[in-house]
Amino acid sequence: MKATLVTDGVYRLSANVHDILFEGMWPVPHGVAINSYLVRGEKCAIIDGVCGWDGVPETLLAQLDELGIDVNDIDSVVINHMEPDHSGWLEAFRKIRGSFSIYATGRAKPLLEAFYGISDNIRPVKSGDTLDLGKGRVLAFEEIPNVHWPETMATYDTKSKTLFPCDAFGSFGSVADDAPYDDTLQEEQIEFFEREMERYYANIVTLYSQATQKAIEKVKGLEVKIIAPGHGIVWRRHPERVIRDYTRLAGYAKGPARAEVAVIWGSMYGMTGLGVQPVVEAIESQGVRTRVHRIPESGISYVLDSVLQCSGVVLGMPTYDYKMFPPMAAVLDEVGKKKIINRKAFRFGSYGWSGGAQKELAEINERLNMNWDYLEPVEFKGRPTDRDGALLRQRGVELAAAVKRWVLGDAA
Ligand SMILES: Cc1cc2nc3c(=O)[nH]c(=O)nc-3n(C[C@H](O)[C@H](O)[C@H](O)COP(=O)(O)O)c2cc1C
Ligand SMILES: [Fe+2]
Ligand SMILES: [Fe+2]
Repeated sequence: MKATLVTDGVYRLSANVHDILFEGMWPVPHGVAINSYLVRGEKCAIIDGVCGWDGVPETLLAQLDELGIDVNDIDSVVINHMEPDHSGWLEAFRKIRGSFSIYATGRAKPLLEAFYGISDNIRPVKSGDTLDLGKGRVLAFEEIPNVHWPETMATYDTKSKTLFPCDAFGSFGSVADDAPYDDTLQEEQIEFFEREMERYYANIVTLYSQATQKAIEKVKGLEVKIIAPGHGIVWRRHPERVIRDYTRLAGYAKGPARAEVAVIWGSMYGMTGLGVQPVVEAIESQGVRTRVHRIPESGISYVLDSVLQCSGVVLGMPTYDYKMFPPMAAVLDEVGKKKIINRKAFRFGSYGWSGGAQKELAEINERLNMNWDYLEPVEFKGRPTDRDGALLRQRGVELAAAVKRWVLGDAA
């Protein structure tokens, strides 16, 4: 970990975490950065922290020393969000800096007590409240509930016009200490973080898309020159770019999303699998890109990402014990709970004697209020016949057309 200067009086302290499942379930093959910020007026404040901060207190003290800051100058800690990836360092920090004030929303108060047994020196804040650090450095707080817990807020440095939104505008992906800003990265490196942002958003933020849209509206009311999130890179040159990215992603949950089709399929003995290629070829023949995942081989993290990005979804799965192939039921349960609704969809699959997958699919769509608009399914007994193949191709063309009509409207 190394402190880097974001702008005059604002420092970034960050750690990259590897070899974990984030939130205990999301793979991060490229790691994830957890960012903390130190803001300096006459007094200093730390905004958010880094869970499992390698070597608190030694590393932190060494960093402060390098910046010429005495730990006793840090009077205030701002906790934008109580999730332990950002608040989990509080106990360690209390050991080295006995007394300091914690600025957090009223809803964070019971969480501070429940997670860390902290009940003293808490300053509950509301939207519009400020913290004056002296030398013209005034921090203003803005509640952004449910991005991504109920207690979350964003902090805005009125002097440098830097926004610290914690989870909002974040992404997966490790960040190099020698290039942590958009203006120190090449275009393709920024695009890497945008891709990591898409899966981060799909996995963590999707359910809170409406709250995210409200948060974005609040942010648009501020003059923001820099966006310094709790995960990922800091946006100094083009903060509007990450606002645009998040606006787009927040809209995808209800659709339309991209004019693309996610093809999610699973098969026991390859019968359903024989239907994948005809459907994919037919969709792509219409100039519509597909993102194909075989389940359960492709993990839910990646499947969620594709379903969120795509306006069309193809589901291929056989009947299993009078229901659908269980990994598909698990996928749909998660997709439905994340409220990825209103998709153009098509289902095909094989069965042996009774079928049953189709009935369960209708039940799931209903129970989770998914409102997916399905073309007529193609079900075949055992191996698909030539006639089934032709039907699959026909449905692929129909689905591509429906997706284009929805996303592109008259331009389709
Ligand atoms: C464990 C198991 C359970 C099955 N349960 C049913 C069932 O309840 N009803 C049915 O019609 N077929 C059932 N089948 C038959 C499959 O749906 C059929 O073999 C189909 O072709 C499998 O497609 P796949 O090769 O794509 O997995 C079952 C097959 C297996 C192996
Ligand atoms: Fe969070
Ligand atoms: Fe987080």
